[in-house]
Amino acid sequence: MAQHTTGMPQDRSATTAASRAAAPEKGATTTAPSDAGYLDVRGLKVHFPTDDGVVKAVDGVSFRIDRGQTIGIVGESGSGKSVTSQAILGLHRRTRAQTSGQIWLDGEDLMTVSDERMRELRGNKMAMIFQDPLSAMHPYYTVGAQIIEGIRVHHPDQSKAQAKTRAIELLGLVGIPSPARRVDQYPHEFSGGMRQRAMIAMALSNDPSLLIADEPTTALDVTVQAQILDLMRKLQAEFGSAIIMITHDLGVVAEMADEILVMYGGKAVEHGPVEEVFYRPQHPYGWGLLTSMPRLDRARTERLNPVPGNPPSLINIPPGCAFHPRCAYQGEAPPQACSTIVPDLIECGPDHLVRCHIPTARRAEIFESDIKPRL
Ligand SMILES: Nc1ncnc2c1ncn2[C@@H]1O[C@H](COP(=O)(O)OP(=O)(O)O)[C@@H](O)[C@H]1O
Ligand code: SF4
Ligand SMILES: [Mg+2]
Repeated sequence: MAQHTTGMPQDRSATTAASRAAAPEKGATTTAPSDAGYLDVRGLKVHFPTDDGVVKAVDGVSFRIDRGQTIGIVGESGSGKSVTSQAILGLHRRTRAQTSGQIWLDGEDLMTVSDERMRELRGNKMAMIFQDPLSAMHPYYTVGAQIIEGIRVHHPDQSKAQAKTRAIELLGLVGIPSPARRVDQYPHEFSGGMRQRAMIAMALSNDPSLLIADEPTTALDVTVQAQILDLMRKLQAEFGSAIIMITHDLGVVAEMADEILVMYGGKAVEHGPVEEVFYRPQHPYGWGLLTSMPRLDRARTERLNPVPGNPPSLINIPPGCAFHPRCAYQGEAPPQACSTIVPDLIECGPDHLVRCHIPTARRAEIFESDIKPRL
């Protein structure tokens, strides 16, 4: 049966010089810089060669996360969020994907560790919660058997009985009623919310220090979603995990994350603490996201459609600022800049980075006069 647990770190945009550093030679392990976070990603690129051209799914993303912290990675479908997390887990190894940049976890160089070591890390330090628990669970094995297998792969010294006791404990911990009975049931006997909890139990079976949750609550109704988020917060407090929360739902990140990374077309367009990015966004794309956010008094929409137009093709990324075909604020930037020059990610507030040609002072003015009143 597949090993489901994979863990994940979090992010803080490490900055330019480091993010542009060349990828290490294959097999040449690098030493983590002294300022590296628990998880530290610098200048990550993941490109997929296809018959139609190269898909630049992730194109120079940097962030760091420490234990006990949560980073939210936000963006429309196809912006490179999942591919980023898969790269951390080493899931593009042995595929045609071209991956470069640097990833350190607890000082260990994930770009160069052996496949065997990567598998160990996926069981012991990193775990992943997917959007769709059914895709991560085997239909022919009981939920308990799958958790027990996960435990025993990484703790071969544990007896089956010991692992089963731990599995029951974990199911109880994630709020599954009658765990001693439920442990022997099959995934289809669980409701959607219960399956999601069971997958979290599976992901936690080895006390991961890095948990990557990829749209963990998208398929759930609002009440169950709130319970799952609450559970993740409690577990984080207990295990001190670093969490990467991938979502298109800004409400979820505002509630869960310490820091937000907004992705557009494979790049970070805005990055910083929640107080900055959520409450004082400075990128026109972030303005669209926030002003279209469902309010408590309105129904939550299934999919985010923040600004008119479609996400860019990652094979033919628009020149200049990838967002320019959809941006209503190009007139505020120097003439022609938006359609010809890729903006750098620059600091625009405390630890707050933004990728936009509008001068910082003018952007802040637009936010105060046009955007803030609409929030
Ligand atoms: N194995 C692959 N081969 C080619 N393209 C891929 C592959 N995996 C993902 N992509 C493309 O990479 C882009 C980013 O995907 P993804 O990270 O899954 O987006 P999301 O932000 O919705 O999670 C998408 O355009 C997707 O089609
Ligand atoms: S650089 Fe230009 S197109 Fe891109 S977000 Fe800023 S104003 Fe809009
Ligand atoms: Mg995804």
